[in-house]
Amino acid sequence: MKDACTRLSPLLVLVLVPLWYHTGAAGLHVRGEQKRNCSAVKLDLSAVIHRVDPRFLSVTIDASLASEEKFMSLLGSAKIRTLAKALTPSFLRFGGTRQDFMVFTPHRFHRDAAGFTAGNHESCDDLELPSWLEDQLKKDWTQQQAVLMREDLHRKYRRVKFTEETVDLLHSFSSCSGMDLIFGLNALLRNADNSWNSSNARSLLQYCESRGYRINWELGNEPNSYEKKAGIRVDGHQLGKDFTRLREMMSQSKLYHGAGLFGPDVGQPRDRRTDLLEGYYVNGRDTSLEDFLDPEILDTLALKTKEVLQKVKLVSPEKPVWLGETSSAYGGGAVGLSDTFVAGFMWLDKLGLAATLGLDVVMRQVFIGSGSYHLVDDNLDPLPDYWLSVLYKRLVGPEVLKVEFSSFTHNKTVRLYLHCTNKHRYRRGAVTLISLNLGETAASVCLPPLAASRTPDAFILQSAGEGGLYSR
Ligand SMILES: *[C@@H]1O[C@H](CO)[C@@H](O)[C@H](O)[C@H]1NC(C)=O
Ligand SMILES: *[C@@H]1O[C@H](CO)[C@@H](O)[C@H](O)[C@H]1NC(C)=O
Ligand SMILES: *[C@@H]1O[C@H](CO)[C@@H](O)[C@H](O)[C@H]1NC(C)=O
Repeated sequence: MKDACTRLSPLLVLVLVPLWYHTGAAGLHVRGEQKRNCSAVKLDLSAVIHRVDPRFLSVTIDASLASEEKFMSLLGSAKIRTLAKALTPSFLRFGGTRQDFMVFTPHRFHRDAAGFTAGNHESCDDLELPSWLEDQLKKDWTQQQAVLMREDLHRKYRRVKFTEETVDLLHSFSSCSGMDLIFGLNALLRNADNSWNSSNARSLLQYCESRGYRINWELGNEPNSYEKKAGIRVDGHQLGKDFTRLREMMSQSKLYHGAGLFGPDVGQPRDRRTDLLEGYYVNGRDTSLEDFLDPEILDTLALKTKEVLQKVKLVSPEKPVWLGETSSAYGGGAVGLSDTFVAGFMWLDKLGLAATLGLDVVMRQVFIGSGSYHLVDDNLDPLPDYWLSVLYKRLVGPEVLKVEFSSFTHNKTVRLYLHCTNKHRYRRGAVTLISLNLGETAASVCLPPLAASRTPDAFILQSAGEGGLYSR
């Protein structure tokens, strides 16, 4: 049998089954035969329905980390770099609301009180953030988050100056970890005629070019909400001109003429005044555990994505569409949920759904930073969604396959996704079946005999300990 995951080698179907269990009895049982009372799964290995970017699962660092430049030094932590390496290949997007309030203010002789100048190290190996400084920064960062939350609440953002140090640290972090950096430029710097004032971006690009930094660029964060955040209205026509301006600047540069330019970062496909991300999923301040397990809520992503894909297909058929900033709940995430085991249902389902719908890249907000939807907490320790992301990276390849499943009892609560397995990790021909049981009762699914005749590697993720689904 010829299948989509292999061309050269004989067929080997290896079913890697990350299973999600509720606490207690409700689980998902995958059986290898069809005689039992279970719902049959149809794996269609004949065609790849979509091929996502190899960096499909990508991450962001919110620009709020640069709200005080010293916090950027956290990116020099050996721990955080080790954690980042396991998520490659991926993009690292640096951006968010505060990117449109950041102004590059170079000063040539930067050196912080500790004398820690990560960006100036030529080699990744001689970089080490001293542990006493790391501890101090982690402590200060906890306090800084209260400041940031107040700003977000009142939508009052200060202008933030940043120097070479921020760029040096970001670049050193991404290149030493093996991530491709996307730097979000400030699009709120406007001239009297409302056109983008590109002079600050020009000096930033010049500095980065002088250092030989490979960087991709993005212009503006959710321009649809500029009115709300800054009282400035920028329409699509003007934004298009601004992007053209940036592309011109890039094409004049030796280093950046071939670099990526991403955007515009569209918030809402229909109603331009409200924020698309707010429509997605749930509000962080008013979320319950059930929301994270609600198939209707998870399916809102499909509706929104289809709208966007349709629009893009109309105006620019070849352009890939990304989910450029996403997490479980807006408003910084839901405390005690977004950073716990239960968030994984939403995260894994989003990855499965986005790939199946034809999105090219999904960027998780945030790798580290404020809020509670981070992958790595304030002590720089990994959270459940981090481990889930690592597993996803290792097992899931870019080829999306079709999987069908029909059940009278679990049609909504059991969710399945099928990919070719990551060929860097497993033999060609293997497939990875992702399965989630959102329901409270056990579900059984039967794999076809072809798949069942091989021994699958199963990765079963269960919440553990007293916290149950709230476990971190
Ligand atoms: C098979 O499953 C259905 C639906 O859950 C149930 O109603 C039926 O009793 C089961 N049959 C057997 C033999 O277990
Ligand atoms: C753009 O901004 C720079 C720096 O603030 C300023 O010097 C310059 O006059 C501005 N350009 C225009 C056309 O307003
Ligand atoms: C389950 O959902 C699939 C896909 O939407 C559908 O084709 C099938 O008829 C459904 N099965 C049942 C038993 O409702």
